[in-house]
Amino acid sequence: MAHPVTTQTAQRPTPVQGLTATGVTVRFAGLTALQDVSLSVGRGEILGLIGPNGAGKTTLTNVLTGFQRHGGAVAVDGQDVTGWSPQRLAGAGVRRTFQNVRLFTGMTVAQNLEAAALGVGLSRTAARTDTAALLERFDLSGHADDDAAALPYGLERRLGVARALVGEPRYVVLDEPAAGLNETESDELLSRLRAVPEQFGCGLVVIEHDMRLIMRLCDRLHVIDHGRTLASGSPADVRANPAVIEAYLGAAAAQHPDAVPGAGVPEVTRHG
Ligand SMILES: Nc1ncnc2c1ncn2[C@@H]1O[C@H](COP(=O)(O)OP(=O)(O)OP(=O)(O)O)[C@@H](O)[C@H]1O
Ligand SMILES: [Mg+2]
Repeated sequence: MAHPVTTQTAQRPTPVQGLTATGVTVRFAGLTALQDVSLSVGRGEILGLIGPNGAGKTTLTNVLTGFQRHGGAVAVDGQDVTGWSPQRLAGAGVRRTFQNVRLFTGMTVAQNLEAAALGVGLSRTAARTDTAALLERFDLSGHADDDAAALPYGLERRLGVARALVGEPRYVVLDEPAAGLNETESDELLSRLRAVPEQFGCGLVVIEHDMRLIMRLCDRLHVIDHGRTLASGSPADVRANPAVIEAYLGAAAAQHPDAVPGAGVPEVTRHG
């Protein structure tokens, strides 16, 4: 193998772009929830994180966004952020949604966005501007003054995603954004999410059991099972991977064939 040629010219190391987890391990008492998991998502990219129930997806989300202590390392665009608090990471542009939407109750839709914007360090004026833009982009302007707690479920999920996008995030991790949505709502969310990397210049990690959505949305997939990486690659490669099919068939998917990667999913590519 050829060695890199060294020159006399001082060269700056190329910054490693991306939100990166390296050798991440998490143990809860006797249970190893994550074992030596490494993954990375770039700006402008959509990475799907999939795996059966209890695989460790939410735990990995917690690791990436500062909510969970862990072994291994997390880096943002080359900067080691291991051990940073959720607030500090949010300020550095790493955001998330929660598996169960956590809207601020007793606030309107607009106030939810504004509070989130203030929470990541925007000024009051910037928070207002950002809120107006997000209301527009997510077709929520007509609901700006509605009580967030009284929103229909589909809109509540949509607001949850919008709220994670305040203040020009660099990376956003969405934990089951389509949970409980019907097919029409899920398709609608798909087209919104597809536009996010370009509109917001950020990278997305999307966790989902809805394979119809995930196979069409993602550039790449990372599969974990029992806390370990099972496969990673293009949606087409992953859905053809025997270990992945077996992991899903061995789990609850046996009762829910739609949960098997690729089941009933037509051959579509993200840009197709
Ligand atoms: N705080 C905790 N204490 C103890 N065990 C935990 C804790 N959080 C998660 N676990 C366990 O770690 C494993 C991974 O859980 P995790 O919630 O990350 O899975 P998941 O892939 O998100 O599952 P789901 O698809 O059901 O949301 C599970 O066995 C879970 O019971
Ligand atoms: Mg989870």
